[in-house]
Amino acid sequence: MAILEILEVPDPRLKTISVPVEADEFNDDLKQLADDMLETMYDAPGIGLAAIQVGVPKRLLVIDLQPEDPDAEPVECEHDGHKHTHPATKFEPRVFVNPVIVDPAEEFATLNEGCLSVPEIYADVDRPATCTVKYQDLDGNHHEEALEGMMATCLQHEMDHLEGILFIDHLSNLKRKMALKKLKKIRAAA
Ligand code: NI
Repeated sequence: MAILEILEVPDPRLKTISVPVEADEFNDDLKQLADDMLETMYDAPGIGLAAIQVGVPKRLLVIDLQPEDPDAEPVECEHDGHKHTHPATKFEPRVFVNPVIVDPAEEFATLNEGCLSVPEIYADVDRPATCTVKYQDLDGNHHEEALEGMMATCLQHEMDHLEGILFIDHLSNLKRKMALKKLKKIRAAA
């Protein structure tokens, strides 16, 4: 396992349209890449990552919403000299190869989104509230799954990356400019 470098705006590679994973590419290298992407995502930390975000223009993405685990002991942590506890979360890693969305809902849901390639910036984005995704697993087997809530939003966000689209591209020009300006300021101060 390895932690990979995450590309950030304005890296032009993020605008790449990713190519399908071919039948002869479902091998150990692909599994290694998915493992490394998950490790990179957990380390960041984030809940989703597309291969192009680590510079690989393949239609592969990983998601783990890391839901709260009510059965586990709360986790104690300390940062900025301040101790607190938060609910434990559980690992639910998902890998989607060559995902395709079918029948997106007509009604939209608005969620506040962020992206590891656009650090520190969050904005509301409207997307179809539910959708069905057809995809392959790491062994090349085909699946179809109905998604809703945060999973539907997250999958659509990650699939945008495969087309070279970032969540800030869904904002008005003014809001996008303001977001990028804010990011520039944060980077200058770091
Ligand atoms: Ni993203």
